[in-house]
Amino acid sequence: MSDIRLEPVPGSDQELKLALWASGLPTEDLEDAGRSFFRAVSSDGGTLGYAGIEACGDDVLLRSIVILPEHRGKAFGKSLTRETLKAVNVSSAVFLATTSAAPFFESLGFAVIDRSDVPPAVLATRQLSGICPASATIMKLNRPPT
Ligand SMILES: CC(C)(COP(=O)(O)OP(=O)(O)OC[C@H]1O[C@@H](n2cnc3c(N)ncnc32)[C@H](O)[C@@H]1OP(=O)(O)O)[C@@H](O)C(=O)NCCC(=O)NCCS
Repeated sequence: MSDIRLEPVPGSDQELKLALWASGLPTEDLEDAGRSFFRAVSSDGGTLGYAGIEACGDDVLLRSIVILPEHRGKAFGKSLTRETLKAVNVSSAVFLATTSAAPFFESLGFAVIDRSDVPPAVLATRQLSGICPASATIMKLNRPPT
């Protein structure tokens, strides 16, 4: 059993927005269509962090992964990412953009890919087309063939 559970939260959730803003993650498009956000809840009901997924045609952008600073370094980030990926259809390719946590996501099965290999619908997301710096690393989840 996991040490966290996920609860859906709307993109308008102020605690979500504050947590992302405080960690330097994009907040401008949280309330746009096609996004789903989750609050990571500990066994005692406290908030550990947040995560989001964004539909891009048949593919998915994993985004807004944040563990509150006081809870970092206890493997909650790994649990949060794994639990969030369970909400993604197994046939969807999963992408993400990060400026500082590429090694963290590599340990979860993501690999760096070239922008030229990113599907147009993923490149067109506000995260990749405008909000994240052009220097952000783009990664794709390596999944076993279905
Ligand atoms: C990235 C983040 C979610 C990791 O959460 P966490 O709970 O501290 O991570 P974990 O404890 O599960 O760490 C798992 C492993 O990743 C490593 N790691 C954690 N954050 C890392 C980072 N930013 N860069 C490189 N490695 C990292 C840990 O050292 C640990 O390694 P180990 O298994 O060898 O001990 C957290 O640091 C965070 O919220 N950062 C700010 C927001 C952010 O950058 N999000 C990612 C972009 S969407």
